[in-house]
Amino acid sequence: MAEVQRIGVVGLGAMGAGIAQLALEAGLDTVGREVEPERAEAARARIGHFLTRKVEKGRLDRTARDEAMARLRLTTDVADLADCDVVIEAAFEDLAVKHALFRELEAVVRPDAILATNTSALSVTDVASVLEHPERVVGMHFFNPAPLMPVVEVVRAERTSDDAFDTAFALGTALGKTPIRCSDTPGFVVNRVLIPLLNDCVRVLDEAGVTPADLDAGLTGGAGWPMGPCALLDLVGADVHVHASEALYEKLREPRMAPPPRLVRMLQAGKLGRKTGEGFYRYD
Ligand code: 3HC
Repeated sequence: MAEVQRIGVVGLGAMGAGIAQLALEAGLDTVGREVEPERAEAARARIGHFLTRKVEKGRLDRTARDEAMARLRLTTDVADLADCDVVIEAAFEDLAVKHALFRELEAVVRPDAILATNTSALSVTDVASVLEHPERVVGMHFFNPAPLMPVVEVVRAERTSDDAFDTAFALGTALGKTPIRCSDTPGFVVNRVLIPLLNDCVRVLDEAGVTPADLDAGLTGGAGWPMGPCALLDLVGADVHVHASEALYEKLREPRMAPPPRLVRMLQAGKLGRKTGEGFYRYD
């Protein structure tokens, strides 16, 4: 098993930036790739903001923050990931997008490099299927917000080699996470349970005529959730959740997996949650 020293992250949205932050804090040289320089710089600013908050709260040394930020290299060119030991893809949840990216990545990385996908609802086996060496592909599914959520699901696809799986598992630990082993089944472990549960919560809003604030108070105060389902859906984003629900419904055909009409309407209206300033709640 190769020791991971340099990591690539493809796609620097909320998840990719969070994963890059973890890698930087773990002392790894990190190359972040975005399609446009502005988006890459936005990720640098986001990571800088959260690391600075840790400094302000006395949880991180100022020097450690500066050294972490200095380890970050940004690019728009996939070829700049050539010297990475592991590349984690956190791009848009679309199979065609991921296939194109993985083909590009395979053409530039070393033969022993491992390619991980942070997909939440696509099949890792499917993502890997276009490669000459699908055995180098593994799932590493982080949870939002990636720097804070303790678990990473490490997903063994049909062709994943032991070496790729073990490297991803060890990397999960090196990033400060508790890795859990998963097979490549729809929704893996957590989303298989969480997605229908959140869908139920949204249906209850209408069935019981309860407000989002009261439902959230119910689940935090009555069931011990760290945040209410509406606040969580606003964090995840209606777009991400509806897409994942549709993907699971397509595979499992369980009615609870289908996205509730209320969420689909929110998606159509651009009320995606925190990222657009309005979801179940408004954000300034
Ligand atoms: N990235 C990095 N740092 C962040 C961050 C982020 N996205 N968000 C917050 N932080 C930092 C901030 O600096 C914050 O402090 P500040 O507000 O003073 O600046 C600090 O973390 C601590 O934040 P909080 O005080 O708000 O932390 P809490 O103790 O309230 O916990 C929480 C926050 C961990 C999000 C907790 O509410 C929680 O566990 N919520 C549930 C989240 C969850 O279930 N996620 C899974 C979603 S499903 C998913 O991801 C699957 C996917 O496939 C869709």
